[in-house]
Order: sequence, then structure tokens, then C-alpha cells
Amino acid sequence: MGKLANKTAVITGASSGIGKAAAHHLAKEGARVVLAARRSERLQELADEIINHYGVEALVVETDVTKREDVENLVKKTKDSFGSVDYYVNNAGVMLLSFLKNDHIDEWEQMVDVNIKGVLYGIHAALPVMLEQNSGHMINVSSVAGHEVFPSSTVYSATKYAVKALSMGMEKELSGTGVRVTNISPGAVDTELTDHITDGDVVEMFKDRKMTPLHSEDIAEAISYAITQPENVNVNEVIVRPMHKK
Ligand SMILES: NC(=O)c1ccc[n+]([C@@H]2O[C@H](COP(=O)([O-])OP(=O)(O)OC[C@H]3O[C@@H](n4cnc5c(N)ncnc54)[C@H](OP(=O)(O)O)[C@@H]3O)[C@@H](O)[C@H]2O)c1
Repeated sequence: MGKLANKTAVITGASSGIGKAAAHHLAKEGARVVLAARRSERLQELADEIINHYGVEALVVETDVTKREDVENLVKKTKDSFGSVDYYVNNAGVMLLSFLKNDHIDEWEQMVDVNIKGVLYGIHAALPVMLEQNSGHMINVSSVAGHEVFPSSTVYSATKYAVKALSMGMEKELSGTGVRVTNISPGAVDTELTDHITDGDVVEMFKDRKMTPLHSEDIAEAISYAITQPENVNVNEVIVRPMHKK
């Protein structure tokens, strides 16, 4: 039996990249997974794969994390279906890199809505359930850009610093409640995240960039590491940077 048998993991942004890999990894360890994102066809395909490969339950809940009622519905459906919310992976995010001078105000707002408000809605919906259970684990996906600011990452970094601050505050406030929190900060990972950048100056800057050697599975592994620690251990911060060959 897997280490996470009879546990329930909610994963936002499960339709691609890190979220999808995390869903595979946690299901492989025996967890039931609840898959959330906007692209429900992709989620359904993933659910079918997971059920076939690992023989665990997988539930799809189409969710836009910028809508508070969607996130409330996600947690309610999880509780109604499986009785508990053991892990909540606040992973959905967008990285619309742009230079401040190019004034991509709509994209700034979108990043605030998804990366900060989406995480807050997750806390709002799932934390009361975890407190009532006297157990649970929130995994917030920040970024190396939540520790450092790069040219064109200013607003993205601001949102990821906010995620880190939320994780740090949760760690202080929740000590002694049985609820654990982990802030995961990946460096550049090979996913669809950069596909949505529209600032021509950033696209130009990135055009000769080397492929990153970090893959979604590497971050899923870090999430799994944090989750599978013994009960007396609270892994609060994990930074995973790419290791380039010479
Ligand atoms: N890749 C990297 O280099 C890197 C580095 C550091 C941190 N991160 C962080 O890792 C997380 C996952 O990113 P990724 O690299 O796996 O990128 P990705 O493949 O583009 O995945 C992003 C996920 O977020 C979901 N999403 C976006 N807006 C959403 C919304 N409004 N509601 C619900 N879901 C939404 C997307 O699903 P739908 O479009 O189907 O809704 C998708 O599943 C993000 O928080 C990102 O900031 C990534």
C-alpha cells in the first residue's frame, strides 16, 4: 500500500506542467486526487490515466481560481466525495513576464488574480476544513522569482513574494494546529508557463535561452518529499534550482 493511501490531495493547475506531474506522483503514492483547472477536457484525460495506472480515485472539478465560489465549490466537492482534504496544492499560476515600461496592466492584474487571490481563495476554502480535522498540509507553489527579482519579472516576482509571505505567515499562525505548510520555490522548469508571454521585448530576450534541465517531475518529487515526512516534521521551504552541465 502506498504512503498516501486513504489520503486526499487537491491540486490546482493540474491540467499541465507541475500540477499534472504532482497529480501523477501523489496518485502513485496511493492518494485520491482532485484535479482542478479551467481546461476540464485535459483534466478528464489525466483522471482516466491516473485511474488506469494507479487504481486510485480521481475527481475532476473545473475551477477558475480567480473565482472565489469556484474554489469554495472545489473544496466542498472534495469533502462531499472523500470526507477530508489532507493536502491542498496551491499550484495554479501564470507568469506573464513584461517590462514595466511596456505597461501590461491587464496582465499584471491577471497575475495578481491567479497567483495571489487564487492562493488566498484556496486558504479561505481549505484551511477551515483542515483546522476542523486537526490535520492537513498546504503546499504553496512560489518560485525562485519569489526570492529574487529579474528584469521583466517585477510584477510576477511581486506575486510570488506574496505567496512566500502567505506561507511564512501560515507557518507562524498554524503552529500547534496539526496543519503543515510548505512553500515550494522552483527555478526555471520546462512547462507551458512561458508560452503565454506577450511582451515582444521579453520574447526577444528569451529567444536564445538554453533549455532548462528541470522538469515538472522534479518539482513533483519535492512536493512528495515534503508531504511524506513524519508527523513531527514540517518542511516549510524547498528551493529547487536547475543544475546546468558545463
Ligand atoms: N515553470 C517554471 O519555470 C516555474 C518556476 C517557478 C514557479 N512556477 C510555478 O509553478 C506553477 C505551475 O506552473 P507550470 O510551470 O506548471 O506552468 P503551466 O504548465 O503553464 O501550468 C499552469 C497551470 O495553472 C493553471 N491556471 C492558470 N490560470 C488558472 C486559473 N485562472 N484557474 C485555474 N487554473 C489556472 C493552468 O490550467 P488552465 O489553463 O487549464 O486553467 C495550468 O494547469 C505556477 O504557479 C508557476 O508560477 C513555475
